[in-house]
Amino acid sequence: MRAALGLVCVALAAGCGDSTAPDPLAPGPDRSAGLTDVAADLDVVLEHGALPDACTAARAQPSDRRLHLLCGKSMFFYESFGTSGVPTALVQLLLDHFADQVGPGFSAFGLVADPSSPKHWPLGLAPTTPVAKGVDALAFTCASCHFARLPDGRYAVGAPNHAYAYGRHTLALALFPQVALGGPGAHDPEALAASSRWSTTIAPIHRWRRRSSARSCRWPARPCRNSPPPMSSTTRAGAAAPWTS
Ligand code: HEC
Repeated sequence: MRAALGLVCVALAAGCGDSTAPDPLAPGPDRSAGLTDVAADLDVVLEHGALPDACTAARAQPSDRRLHLLCGKSMFFYESFGTSGVPTALVQLLLDHFADQVGPGFSAFGLVADPSSPKHWPLGLAPTTPVAKGVDALAFTCASCHFARLPDGRYAVGAPNHAYAYGRHTLALALFPQVALGGPGAHDPEALAASSRWSTTIAPIHRWRRRSSARSCRWPARPCRNSPPPMSSTTRAGAAAPWTS
């Protein structure tokens, strides 16, 4: 009996008469250096505009712990690490001409608009290596998937962004322009159905193609060198993201 009680005490790790055992749920020491990662006010979480230049400041003062953390936070929001992205012009086209469908900063897909972006980019997309010579691109940063609103509405750095409709956003960026310019092609019917409501207003896409590097290609007969492959059910399975949500 005594042995059994001992086991229960080990299993519970705390309590069982040992009042000196640490409370595992007690708040830890404050190591935030005054930064705020959870708040109802987005401007507070974004450190009142201090993030974009934070790494330059941190490099100038390498022993400053607060600047060091601020630089890390800046990278969380604004660093793409050179990963492959989508043409900036395409993102801008959708934000400027399809505002009703995509929302400010792609908020219709669950991203959060960056209040400091004059071009209404979302938090979670940032400049990356160009797609081709002269074709600037934007790619994900950690914030697209790991920055979210909590059920009570507060913004939280590190919260999983369950609201992000990654599959639908991918369709908007990759499939919609191809279908608008080149027809249904070899794309999966389910993907086409999910993006069909877009194709009623394709004029801005044609204007964009005339202005941009995409004018040298014509989907699907003469695809752009960097155009994405057809959306197939394999693509969907690989991305593990439903098209309809
Ligand atoms: C496109 C969405 C996306 C982006 C961008 C992204 N992540 Fe993730 N991340 C995920 C998903 C989804 C998981 C969960 C994977 C799983 O559980 O199988 C994850 C898991 C993680 C985990 C593990 C968490 C745990 O509790 O096990 C860490 C740490 C992490 N990501 C850090 C980062 C960092 C740092 C960045 C930016 C450099 C980043 N992620 C960018 C989607 C993303």
